[in-house]
Amino acid sequence: MPSENEMMNALSAVIDPELGRSIVELKMVRDLIWDSSGVVSFNLVLTIPGCPLKDQMASDARKVLMALPGVKDVVVNFSAMTEAEKKAAFAQGRSAVPKLNQFNQVRQIIAVMSGKGGVGKSTVTAMLAVALCRKGLKVGILDADITGSSIPKLFGLPSGGLRSAEQGMLPAVTGIGLKVVSINLLLKGEDVPVIWRGPMISSAIRQFWGETLWGKLDYLLIDLPPGTSDAALSVMQDIPIDGVLLVTTPQGLSAMVVRKAVHMIRQLNIRVLGLVENLSYFICPDNGKRYDIFGPSHSGEIAEIAGAPAFAALPIDPVIAAKCDAGRVEDVVSAEIDRLVEQIIK
Ligand SMILES: Nc1ncnc2c1ncn2[C@@H]1O[C@H](COP(=O)(O)OP(=O)(O)OP(=O)(O)O)[C@@H](O)[C@H]1O
Ligand SMILES: [Mg+2]
Repeated sequence: MPSENEMMNALSAVIDPELGRSIVELKMVRDLIWDSSGVVSFNLVLTIPGCPLKDQMASDARKVLMALPGVKDVVVNFSAMTEAEKKAAFAQGRSAVPKLNQFNQVRQIIAVMSGKGGVGKSTVTAMLAVALCRKGLKVGILDADITGSSIPKLFGLPSGGLRSAEQGMLPAVTGIGLKVVSINLLLKGEDVPVIWRGPMISSAIRQFWGETLWGKLDYLLIDLPPGTSDAALSVMQDIPIDGVLLVTTPQGLSAMVVRKAVHMIRQLNIRVLGLVENLSYFICPDNGKRYDIFGPSHSGEIAEIAGAPAFAALPIDPVIAAKCDAGRVEDVVSAEIDRLVEQIIK
């Protein structure tokens, strides 16, 4: 039979796909025992109970142990880390991330997230960035939606607008001076699809953060793709974000999915800064009447679950849609977004 050291060495090759580090290094392997008949068993201590990737890790572990001479069978039991152990594991995961470029000084990093798609995250991110910029603050947007990038289009930024220098990437700069980094700015055309799996997406996001000359910024806003995907996980684990701004709509479905996002954020020990309800209502220009097109608001309930305030409710505004489509989000003026800015700055 191999020694404990040999078995642990073999298990070092098994990577937790979420944290990108070895299960041995993350102290996920406990109670390794074996008997003379060649049966090895151990406890795989998961960061998240019921982690969907647990079977993959177990099967990888089985494979590397079975490859050792004398091992006839492998039994993997599962258990979960305590809060303190989980914190230590995630902190360890973070240390591998590229450090901010030495010229970068970013004061606040806010990720904009939703559960459901199409609720207006990118629009809110762009309008918020513009409103912060109008206050004289230095602002950047990191477009973490690699496969569905839409930030450049909102600002009318052409493809190929990112430049690369020896020290890293130079962001594209919008009319009012916002710095933007997005995969679409690297592609030959905005219609070129990005067909990448999770690890490549995560790696692109890490580069956008660590290898970009962001310079001195008051705020870096990160536009996430919908849901609790690899990209969301990468942003929350690999970038030292200060908090998450949640975007939702009044629909019950949107509220239900945003609750999932809240639970994910909480598991990763990240703060929800507040909630923005978009497409909240419509004021008819003909009669000035208010219509709750997507039904009554759920923001009070979600704010309670998230333990964070409902910052703003944005109406459905055809002017916003038209300006965004025309690449002129910088022309949009919104009293609600200005109020949101006050809350964020506070
Ligand atoms: N308040 C609003 N009034 C009118 N149109 C809006 C409003 N907010 C967003 N839109 C429009 O809704 C569409 C979807 O918005 P957006 O792309 O910002 O959503 P998203 O949540 O980022 O989507 P995805 O999940 O695909 O990233 C866009 O066409 C946008 O112009
Ligand atoms: Mg979007």
